[in-house]
Amino acid sequence: MPLVSGKEILQAAKKGGYAVGAFNVNNMEIIQAIVEAAEEERSPVLLQASQGAIKYAGLDYIVALVRVAAGKVSVPVALNLDHGTSFDQAMKCLRGGFTAVMLDGSHYPFDENVALVKKVVAVAHAVGVSVEGELGRIGGTEDDISVDAKDAYMTLPEEAKKFADLTEVDALAVAIGTAHGVYHGEPKLDFERLSAIRKIVDCALVLHGASGVPDEAIKRAVKIGVQKINIDTEIRQAFTNGIKKVMAEKPNEFDPRKLLGPSKEAMKEVVKSKMRLFGSSQKA
Ligand code: 13P
Repeated sequence: MPLVSGKEILQAAKKGGYAVGAFNVNNMEIIQAIVEAAEEERSPVLLQASQGAIKYAGLDYIVALVRVAAGKVSVPVALNLDHGTSFDQAMKCLRGGFTAVMLDGSHYPFDENVALVKKVVAVAHAVGVSVEGELGRIGGTEDDISVDAKDAYMTLPEEAKKFADLTEVDALAVAIGTAHGVYHGEPKLDFERLSAIRKIVDCALVLHGASGVPDEAIKRAVKIGVQKINIDTEIRQAFTNGIKKVMAEKPNEFDPRKLLGPSKEAMKEVVKSKMRLFGSSQKA
């Protein structure tokens, strides 16, 4: 079916007490794997493009590929801009056909972050597109965006409420101890902070950097009230491990389809297991 607004998916998740996966996409195989997994699990899903994905594939390619994939299934699919960097980029995405945008102003002072996100909300809401903001700074590396551990800081509940009220965002990414990329050691999530935020903030809450977070921690976060969970690294790992496996078994293989095909299946399994973990399976 045609792409749906991120808001529709996140509101249903909040009402139903589950979270929906937002999976990063870079090429056709990844998009097919995620959308096919969603159809087989009867799960709503968000696909998202990072700065690196836009640079690598091009915004128009991503929209076209995601539209075709969504058109082949009967579960709700939304397309989100991940860590949008500017008002201009968010507008390009709206015009291009994204149905959700994130404007990450977390590196700006509070007032500047609010002003920037508010500006995007005014336009996006007028055309039915949902907006995600970020408060606090999530550590780690995602494509071109790197946040040192010393610069990462946790979201303050009172500030989160103020931010959500002033901007009218549909979703808020909170920093509670997760980080983008591969973890060295087990991540420690601040569930008390998450509960305190959940108690006073109405919009959907988003957990970034969820690859490598233990299942029990994810379940607890969903129970407290997270509605969107971002996964990138574990999909990349499934993709490249699949290719490495074929190369090891058949070093002379030169048909790209035979290298990438098995990876697609591996990515599908990762996505399906996340959908079951987040509680979104059978919700579409
Ligand atoms: P991971 O790469 O840690 O899964 O994080 C993805 C993410 O948060 C995208 O915004």
